[in-house]
Amino acid sequence: MSDNANDLMSLCKRRGFIWPSFELYGGVAGMYDYGPLGCALRNNIVDVWRSIYKGREGFVEIDSETVGPREIFKASGHVDEFADLITYCKECQAPFRADHMVKEFYDNPDVLTPKQLEEAFVKHNIRCLECGGELGPVEEFNLMFKTTIGPGSARVGYLRPETAQGIFVNFPNLYRYNREKLPLGVIQTGRSYRNEIAPRQGMIRMREFNQMEVELFVDPEDKDWARFPDIAGEYIDLLPNTGDETIRITVGEAVEKGIIANKVLAYFVYTTKQLLTRLGIDPARLRFRQHLQDEMAHYAADCWDAEVLLSYGWTEITGIADRGCWDLSRHAEFSGTELKHFKRFDEPREVTVTKIKAKHKLLGPAFKTKAKAIAAAMESMSPSDVKDGHLTVDIDGEKVDVSDEFFEVAEVTEKVTGERVVPHVIEPSHGLDRIFYSVLEHAFSYDAEKDYTVMHLVPEVAPIKVGVFPLMEKDGLDTLAMSIYEKIHTHRVEAYYDGSGTIGKRYARMDEVGTPWCITVDYDSLEDGTVTIRDRDTTEQKRIKIDDAARIVGELLEGKDFASI
Ligand code: ATP
Ligand code: GLY
Repeated sequence: MSDNANDLMSLCKRRGFIWPSFELYGGVAGMYDYGPLGCALRNNIVDVWRSIYKGREGFVEIDSETVGPREIFKASGHVDEFADLITYCKECQAPFRADHMVKEFYDNPDVLTPKQLEEAFVKHNIRCLECGGELGPVEEFNLMFKTTIGPGSARVGYLRPETAQGIFVNFPNLYRYNREKLPLGVIQTGRSYRNEIAPRQGMIRMREFNQMEVELFVDPEDKDWARFPDIAGEYIDLLPNTGDETIRITVGEAVEKGIIANKVLAYFVYTTKQLLTRLGIDPARLRFRQHLQDEMAHYAADCWDAEVLLSYGWTEITGIADRGCWDLSRHAEFSGTELKHFKRFDEPREVTVTKIKAKHKLLGPAFKTKAKAIAAAMESMSPSDVKDGHLTVDIDGEKVDVSDEFFEVAEVTEKVTGERVVPHVIEPSHGLDRIFYSVLEHAFSYDAEKDYTVMHLVPEVAPIKVGVFPLMEKDGLDTLAMSIYEKIHTHRVEAYYDGSGTIGKRYARMDEVGTPWCITVDYDSLEDGTVTIRDRDTTEQKRIKIDDAARIVGELLEGKDFASI
């Protein structure tokens, strides 16, 4: 870890943002617990995300299971495809992610095959990071945690590697809930699990982590978005897969030039920028990188990663993918249930279709009482079911062979009111822990000369909004400060009472955890009913009336400038 990341992580641990899990027992790599300030910050991030998607965009939210049966992940492709390449040291058996071992030498090492990676180890003399031993063969390692559901080993299950699948398998329920209309936007936040091979980058690579995922089901032929014109003129930094230059371009131009595949995907790339910058990510250290064709996940038709510049280098914190019809088609195939949208035409259309038509006059004498059922079964089948001039129909479990003397395949013209289509999915998948860490790293500023840390968190996400201090814990200053604290501290505004140490130390404690404002009660307060309010970023101080304090804090949280209060 870099010095910056080390300083930040030790602050996070000391002040109760995050703690390595199970530290009492030596800890487990890639696992962290959130402390009180961390929980508050994380919840505030989730609230902003929710206010954009549920509030502004009108999406619905669900909460699905974190353990799923094997069938789900077989259908989703994770059982067969969700693997990283692993190599073990031949001497000490330490495991390494094979592509990470060569990242100094290749721009995109995750597209290399096992053989190419083994060759790269030899060519660049890459050895074990623990003992310097020779690295062994490169093989696939599935990242899902496996378990069993119920006693015994009869039903294999997996901890979900993404929250998304819980939304896809609920498509019939969600579609019904949305009155069978598209677009249908669904959000979900919760835990996901990946048995990462060698987590060495703090909160960037965790084995149990949190996602905020958004799945938008759209008409496959209509990837427009009503609000697109509102943002078409906004700028965004893109790194397309056709070159290695980051370009600043308007969202509208990016779609016109075919850089981003469609308007709805572009809209949500921009929404991600809005979310991240509102949370306090520095726009100058944010870009959107398009996946290379052979880098895309097994389900993706186009994919852009929101990457932020951290002390670890450019790091993906959100993936925005056009998943096409992959998920619904696969779950339809594996579950045997059609997962489609009925798309009504503006006007009924005449279409010519090829259909099976039963020859009722011949069926009656030949099949007697079963003739009616056979005719109905045949007419519900498709011409592609005809094999060598025969159809096999199922009548109450009995298979009946019917030759083509009893049916014909004919072209018929029908009036249809619509068609059934498999919706496509646009997915902004946000890694909550990576966003949490990035927000902290971009807010963190350490003045080595003064040995002073300020966390410039935006007020909306700051875990504590106001520190309330009595100058001295006596002469009634403490009771007055406590009464102000109680007025300000609500479920929406977290205040913190601190009566110990010098005022300078108390400011420092609040600055270090990103508290935007502090209120101090002094002897004048007892006389004239006023207090001092101090702004973290400018250190400017103003005198305000005690009776106005809660209102003023509310206005500052709404975005009012400190200078104008
Ligand atoms: P990486 O290439 O860094 O492993 P990924 O491409 O596998 O990431 P996605 O599968 O697109 O990541 O997952 C969506 C989001 O979930 C990521 O953008 C990231 O923020 C988050 N995420 C994925 N894996 C982890 C992890 N191990 N720890 C923390 N967050 C993660
Ligand atoms: N849902 C995208 C991912 O987690 O990979």
